[in-house]
Amino acid sequence: MSDPLDETRALWDDEAQTFDEAADHGLRDPAVRAAWRTLMLDLLPPAPARVADLGCGTGTLALLLTEEGYDVTGVDVSPEMVRRARAKAPGVEFVEADAAAPPLDRASYDVVLSRHVLWAMPDPAAALARWQDLLTPGGRLVLVEGSWSTGAGLTGAETVALVEGLGRTATLRPLPDAGYWGREISDERYAVTG
Ligand SMILES: C[S@@+](CC[C@H](N)C(=O)[O-])C[C@H]1O[C@@H](n2cnc3c(N)ncnc32)[C@H](O)[C@@H]1O
Repeated sequence: MSDPLDETRALWDDEAQTFDEAADHGLRDPAVRAAWRTLMLDLLPPAPARVADLGCGTGTLALLLTEEGYDVTGVDVSPEMVRRARAKAPGVEFVEADAAAPPLDRASYDVVLSRHVLWAMPDPAAALARWQDLLTPGGRLVLVEGSWSTGAGLTGAETVALVEGLGRTATLRPLPDAGYWGREISDERYAVTG
């Protein structure tokens, strides 16, 4: 019987080849990188802190946060994303695994960070409950998501409802500024902390 994640792996392995070419993925433009650095430092508790970056892709945010003094563990299901992340950030631990049930220690992370991944979970509420289990008491969820012009994604209201469904207080921060994306956008992009 085939693994239901085989299709996901194949899709994202394929995406990995060109993933960093998007301004917000590779953060190759210093101005875009600076915008994300400022945003992350605003949304996260101060370093040092342990961060689980779930669906970490090519490790761009993991590297950025490591450079800021955070202790980051990245998780991604795509072998090719993980291979690229390890090459980009050699000092960071990256685990090849399903983010829907991350094989990380419970109650051990000050932050669970996930950018553009919750929407792709087959059951976002169940995934988020598992993510919450990873947090230390007083730990924080930091979810960067969107409801994109392609029709994919989660609205800010949907993500807030998911976080509030865990009994947490959610704060929505819209991210309409072109400075994060390297171009003007007309769809909904945001961060929710809780
Ligand atoms: C849109 S990319 C975002 C990557 C990274 N968070 C970023 O913002 O640069 C989505 C990522 O989620 C990963 N992903 C998708 N489904 C996953 C799953 N079930 N478990 C772990 N990672 C998954 C993909 O391999 C891909 O790297």
